[in-house]
Amino acid sequence: MDKLLIEGGQRLMGEVAVSGAKNAALPILCASLLSAEPVTFTNVPQLKDVSTLLALLAQMGVKAERDGGTVTLDASGLTNAVAPYEMVKTMRASILVLGPLAARCGQASVSLPGGCAIGARPVDQHIKGLQAMGATVGIEHGYVHVSGSRLKGARLVTDMVTVTGTENLMMAACLADGETVIENAACEPEVVDLADCLCAMGAKIAGAGSDVIRVQGVSRLHGARHRIMPDRIETGTYLCAAAVTGGQVRLTGTQPSSLDAVIGKLSVAGCAVRCEADSIHIEAPKKLTAVSLRTAPYPAFPTDMQAQFMALNCVASGAATIRETIFENRFMHAVELQRLGADIHIDGNTAMVRGVDSLQGATVMATDLRASAGLVIAGLVAEGATTIERIYHLDRGYECLDEKLIALGAKVRRVK
Ligand code: UD1
Repeated sequence: MDKLLIEGGQRLMGEVAVSGAKNAALPILCASLLSAEPVTFTNVPQLKDVSTLLALLAQMGVKAERDGGTVTLDASGLTNAVAPYEMVKTMRASILVLGPLAARCGQASVSLPGGCAIGARPVDQHIKGLQAMGATVGIEHGYVHVSGSRLKGARLVTDMVTVTGTENLMMAACLADGETVIENAACEPEVVDLADCLCAMGAKIAGAGSDVIRVQGVSRLHGARHRIMPDRIETGTYLCAAAVTGGQVRLTGTQPSSLDAVIGKLSVAGCAVRCEADSIHIEAPKKLTAVSLRTAPYPAFPTDMQAQFMALNCVASGAATIRETIFENRFMHAVELQRLGADIHIDGNTAMVRGVDSLQGATVMATDLRASAGLVIAGLVAEGATTIERIYHLDRGYECLDEKLIALGAKVRRVK
């Protein structure tokens, strides 16, 4: 298993290009299942999660052509509406095939993802929504089996804001008979990007980006070309990395408007952040000020940036509280950060972080994607060497992480 060796203490300086968004690419690639015509996607990040999804689509009979960041998917020969456990267990986002398959094929068998490192993460809202649209849904031998004729438009009210739940139901509604209204919908920019792609394919969707999405079902979707939006979590991660090292970094090819909450907190921490149309420049102070935050659905502070800000608070002046309201077990990085000398006290869903003068390098274990990003940030500012084990988590979601950090002046080495 690969490890990442980081020699801390280098100020990050320079420019880095942001990749396409993992959390937009995954649902958007699944949208290809809704059409019998080829769909071309550009700015697709080269990530483990993307390869996993492409393998899943391939075993369903979807033909793929990939040339760097351009991927063309042709689901005209869709033969097998099954997502097996072996693939779903490595990537929960595989559940995003459920809505498109139910809509296009009228039947699907998709493995239940099960729990994961950050919480239980059930998919009951996805299932409840499809049932409300007239599908017959049963759970047998760990699989969700969907059957029925054409889905019918319905009013869907989710019990909580769910990103992939909203995406699955919005995709299913595209080919349903009549109007579907999704209330309490997720407002995440990735939902808007998916809606833009679906509209380019001929879907009729209004309200994406608000908490009420209206979809007028159509009988078929056609081919299209769509560019995946920039990754706001990757952007935020490099902003934090620049901040903790007292650096000066410019992120290009990004979407500053999708990062208001993150940029707001970095400013409170003492960073000077300047946004242009598609770039963000950050200049960090010598010493950061600790920032308290509470994670919540967009446009509030994203749970996917919580670990990175915990790392930042570890070396800031003062104390801060971090409240995690989305996932029940998302403080796994805290114990690893403590091994680097961080002062963190956890009480339920709240972490109290008191800044220390310095962290010391040690061997730490990556537990999930964003927890790993928090450990990388801590390693960049720790004294001496930090070894991060199990970095396959990082490869799931950060394109060329080591290369990009090295280009900014970090001393980082991947060991096979
Ligand atoms: C997506 C993101 C993930 C991010 C998360 C929250 C993708 C591929 N992943 O995950 O990076 O951290 O949003 O912003 O886009 N829930 C239920 N029942 C359901 C669905 C969700 O109880 O049917 C709960 C979850 O357990 C969680 C909360 O709702 O506590 C929000 O989860 P959700 O928005 O669905 O997360 P994902 O879409 O899985």
